[in-house]
Amino acid sequence: MTDSIESRLQEARRQLAQHGQQDLLRFAEQLSAAQLEELLADINRLDLPLIDELIEGFLKAQPSAQLPDKILPPPVYPIEPSAELAPKYQQALEEGQKLIAEGKVAAFAVAGGMGTRLNFDGPKGLLPATPVRKKVLFEVFADSIRAAQKRYGGVIAWYIMTSPANHETTKQAFEEKNYFGLEADNVVFFQQGMIPCFDQEGKILLAEPHRIALSPDGHGGSLRALHRSFALEDMARRRIEYISYFQVDNPLVKVIDPLFIGLHALDQAQMSSKAVMKEDPEEKVGVLVLGDGKVRVIEYSDLPRSLAQQRNDEGRLTYELGSVAIHIINRSFVEKINAHGFSLPWHRAQKRVPYVDTHGQVVDPQEPNAVKLETFVFDALPLADVSIILAIERAEEFAPIKNAAGADSPESSRRLQIERAARWLEKAGADVPRRPDRTIDAALEISPLFALDVEELAQKGPLLPPIEPGGSIYIE
Ligand code: UD1
Repeated sequence: MTDSIESRLQEARRQLAQHGQQDLLRFAEQLSAAQLEELLADINRLDLPLIDELIEGFLKAQPSAQLPDKILPPPVYPIEPSAELAPKYQQALEEGQKLIAEGKVAAFAVAGGMGTRLNFDGPKGLLPATPVRKKVLFEVFADSIRAAQKRYGGVIAWYIMTSPANHETTKQAFEEKNYFGLEADNVVFFQQGMIPCFDQEGKILLAEPHRIALSPDGHGGSLRALHRSFALEDMARRRIEYISYFQVDNPLVKVIDPLFIGLHALDQAQMSSKAVMKEDPEEKVGVLVLGDGKVRVIEYSDLPRSLAQQRNDEGRLTYELGSVAIHIINRSFVEKINAHGFSLPWHRAQKRVPYVDTHGQVVDPQEPNAVKLETFVFDALPLADVSIILAIERAEEFAPIKNAAGADSPESSRRLQIERAARWLEKAGADVPRRPDRTIDAALEISPLFALDVEELAQKGPLLPPIEPGGSIYIE
């Protein structure tokens, strides 16, 4: 061991001991020089005072401690405007279309998650997701962006947040697929931050004797990563003002929605959200509320059962607005919160994390053994002065893929995609084969490049091919 490594090792030991994390170096004597360098580099990147705060404030704290004192249902723009609101919706639509045409709106996908519930080996964006063509999720979004560029004019830059665990694979797939038909220059990748995984007592885990176990810091990390990477500057250079934020898991998302963008812009909001009506009190979506006077999301796991179950005079759930994790965020808002310094609360989750035991063996546990901390992007909502909510039709815009089977799985999403295509086709005058129980007897897929919405499909009604029972049809 050279002197310099030896002295750095001593220094690391001293530092770690001050924060009760000295066990990270318990295998130091058995490591090669290169491995020790790697471990010391990992240790150097740790913000130990912050980690102490996290352990005290969030790892040991009760999640319910962060609920607002006063919770009420928030104001919402309805799916269908009232007669009074109709002119505003029309004005918003036109405003949104203008902003898109001027290149002031960017698409932004958060795709840094580990997709652990899905058992898919690779970035989730590369999961085959559509019913007929089996397009991967990234391709679906790319097609929507191409279609929106064609319809509204203007360039729509697409920002994609990855994590160190999937960055290279994601970029490589885009290169191999020629950026799914987009200009490579207009697709910008950047990485989110990572945070150590802990055992139940707050000790940082080792993934290998010479590597710390790290995981992405949650999609809330995107607000800092946009700033720390070159992405915000890149947006400023392109004169982008609005960021259309969505998760990589929803193939039905309207990547660019002029009505939502327009309502947000007309109301001079800084961060806004779309919402669906919750299907049942237990549904696993965050709930939009007015908490201490501010629009915010309470995550499903934090929502007290009494509030989840509460109903109003009409018998509807009082807190019925489910967050679909679709937001418009102003570039200037992200700049401002970063300039003034901000922190989002950390949320703890019990997860399975491979770790090194006291004998130096890597253990792959079958049960959750570790605590992961994450920040959530919607926790930035209360930092906005104005924040609007637009209600949307679930069946039109929400078919997430989160689990390997059952609810929110590739199979359930496929069914919802086919049902939406069938509804559009029937409205456009096509005959969709249905079985006696009314279920659809065909696999249907409409390329966003053929029709971005039902109105566009209806205009192309005469071009629609006949659909055979049991058939499989891709309309492009
Ligand atoms: C999420 C929302 C929930 C919402 C639902 C709608 C959270 C905590 N909850 O649930 O309120 O109703 O979606 O579908 O977000 N990601 C990153 N980096 C990370 C972690 C996640 O980019 O560090 C991305 C994932 O790639 C994915 C998305 O964020 O696109 C969702 O994250 P996930 O933690 O799976 O949240 P959900 O439980 O799906």
